[in-house]
Amino acid sequence: MEGVIDAVTRDLLTRTPGFDWAVTEFVRVVDAPLPPRVFRRHCPELDRPGVATPAGVPVHLQLLGADPAALAANARQALHLGARSLDLNFGCPAKTVNRHDGGASLLRDPGRVEAAVAAVQGAVGGAIPVTAKLRLGFADRRLALACARAAERGGAAQLVVHARTRHEGYRPPAHWEWLARIRHRVRIPVVANGDIWTLEDYWKARTLSGCRDVMLGRGALADPWLAPRIRHWQATGERLPATPWRVRAELLRDFAAAQRSTLPERVVTALVKQWLSHMRSRDVEAARRFQALKRCTALDALLAGLEAPIPRHPARAATPA
Ligand SMILES: Cc1cc2nc3c(=O)[nH]c(=O)nc-3n(C[C@H](O)[C@H](O)[C@H](O)COP(=O)(O)O)c2cc1C
Repeated sequence: MEGVIDAVTRDLLTRTPGFDWAVTEFVRVVDAPLPPRVFRRHCPELDRPGVATPAGVPVHLQLLGADPAALAANARQALHLGARSLDLNFGCPAKTVNRHDGGASLLRDPGRVEAAVAAVQGAVGGAIPVTAKLRLGFADRRLALACARAAERGGAAQLVVHARTRHEGYRPPAHWEWLARIRHRVRIPVVANGDIWTLEDYWKARTLSGCRDVMLGRGALADPWLAPRIRHWQATGERLPATPWRVRAELLRDFAAAQRSTLPERVVTALVKQWLSHMRSRDVEAARRFQALKRCTALDALLAGLEAPIPRHPARAATPA
């Protein structure tokens, strides 16, 4: 996820078993082949054994673009650098990306989806799998099945489908039942994505879509044990306990320690708060800590605040007895 799930985050989230693979932030392809440093910045795992996180979870490199020739040239470059799998982004809703013809804007024309996938597939010549990330459409769902079939015809080995249109943005609900319709029209695996925050959401998405596998986005940030939770349930039929605050705090501390070796403190401070903010939607303690620390501008004070006791009712505690 662009601006959110970088190599450090992938490393931390995959330390507890649960994820089968991870995806990079998208590499924006416009025309010319990008220099190796751009690929390595998005995917430092290119220089690791198996293009995997330190825990051994494979990382797929994602390209976002519209021009088949440019995508093909960059796919060749990625292959040359050691990529083991390429994913094409047809889901990004960002106005800047869509205005410049990329991401979900291609879903208006299934022929363009097919051409992009076919160009990348042709460029790598079957040496590595090419997969596609779709939404259900741009303005509406009329072309959802056509786009999925187009990606398959182009040679995609798998589809991840975010169960909303571009116009729906991130607004609930995700239309998981549409994924069942797509599954019945293609022969390649379909992975469900969108609004899976809890084990119960996973069950519901799985029941409505028929997809065994799901891709987690914001939910994995909100609950770092969500993938392990799903995996544990798949393996044993049992539920893991709620993710304790101590696990969350330790993760944020490790995250800060890794990021501060390369990024300025104010950026790391903002990134820690960003992750804490993702956690607060699903955890009362994270919400209390975020409320208490959101104006904190010094990294060490922020990290100390993850440990320190905070009053249960800050407003009342401040009132003299
Ligand atoms: C901040 C942000 C950045 C994202 N960046 C990417 C990206 O680079 N590539 C991609 O395929 N999807 C990206 N997405 C979309 C997510 O992968 C996912 O499809 C979407 O958030 C819905 O799933 P969720 O409800 O589990 O988050 C991004 C989403 C957010 C909120």
